[in-house]
Amino acid sequence: MRITNPTIFYSVLLLALLHVGCKENKKESQSEMETVKTDSKQNPIEETVFGEMPDGTKVKKFTLKNEAGMEVDVITYGGIITRWTAPDKNGLYEDIVLGYDNLEQYLDGNPYFGALIGRYGNRIADGKFTLDGNTYNLATNDGDNHLHGGEKGFDKVLWTGVAKNNEDGASVELTYTSQDGEEGYPGKLDVKVTYTLTDDNELDIQYQAVTDKPTIVNLTQHSYFNLSGRLTEKVLDHELHLNADSFLPVDGGLIPTGELRQVSGTPFDFKEPKLIGAEIEADNEQLKLGLGYDHCWVLNQGEDDFSLAATVHHPKSGRFMEVYTNEPGMQFYSGNFLDGTLPAKNGGTYAQRSGFCLETQHFPDSPNQNDFPSVRLDPGETYASRTLYKLSTK
Ligand code: GLA
Repeated sequence: MRITNPTIFYSVLLLALLHVGCKENKKESQSEMETVKTDSKQNPIEETVFGEMPDGTKVKKFTLKNEAGMEVDVITYGGIITRWTAPDKNGLYEDIVLGYDNLEQYLDGNPYFGALIGRYGNRIADGKFTLDGNTYNLATNDGDNHLHGGEKGFDKVLWTGVAKNNEDGASVELTYTSQDGEEGYPGKLDVKVTYTLTDDNELDIQYQAVTDKPTIVNLTQHSYFNLSGRLTEKVLDHELHLNADSFLPVDGGLIPTGELRQVSGTPFDFKEPKLIGAEIEADNEQLKLGLGYDHCWVLNQGEDDFSLAATVHHPKSGRFMEVYTNEPGMQFYSGNFLDGTLPAKNGGTYAQRSGFCLETQHFPDSPNQNDFPSVRLDPGETYASRTLYKLSTK
């Protein structure tokens, strides 16, 4: 059709321009809609029963999933991560954390596989500390020292779990109230730990706690990783980088001596990526005391406090993990106490050094070491700690 009448011509042109304008607007509002959709994403969270405690209480399991296909299983007993799948360089998803198949095995004896650790991650010398002139006695459950919160730490209690979707992904929020005097620690402590799985294959772990009396807190997560997906094989072929210029030498009970020692020129130097196995058998007094690596590194803190603390690469599978935290220390434990007796998830047993832990935390024995950053928490304050593990391939 040819339009000859100028009035009609200009009217049609105007209409056409308006139409394009509307389309543009529509596009904008569509992208707004997409943003809104992302903000209220509904990644699936499955809630099932993992097992029953001896008194019949049910232990729940939450399976967090993301769009990429990653899955993380968290149970309400100990806040334990029982399974975590990650893709290798060919896109094959495999479990990358040590653990067990069922609750009974966790109850039978668990070297803190995947667990939340509290009130105090790591060791306190002689199970004693003093706060405002009062001395508190804790269980000595690791030789003469206190370890990981005592006989029944946060790894062995039942948490209340609530599944939540938030703008970052699928979450489970775990809460627990530790009563005043529990395991010898002062103050009633209300703790909340949130695990969030994002679509970027990150597991973001946020810890919060408040107290009604002055106390001490140092929470962490005790997952044993094996990025090969072969959970019974040694992790010596993983390349580790720790963003730390110094570490804390220990005594025979693995209590820091108080010295901050430069890592340069020692087997503790992971400033550049290095195989875990490269120097683990070196003739070194500190390695002998730990039976391998079982030490706290003093992290080079980034300017925004929440910064990259460590990376691990498993060249064969291509899996690559980054660890970000706002904590000043990183306990790198090379699974030295695993001795081939514990049953593995997919058959076989966990060999010595078949998993490594990267436990973000304040320094061990801080309550007894004035020069270490404080672990004190007072009423009215909120303890806030954050660690993010990001998986990719390279
Ligand atoms: C921590 C400790 C180790 C060991 C493990 C659990 O990482 O530093 O010495 O106790 O937990 O076996």
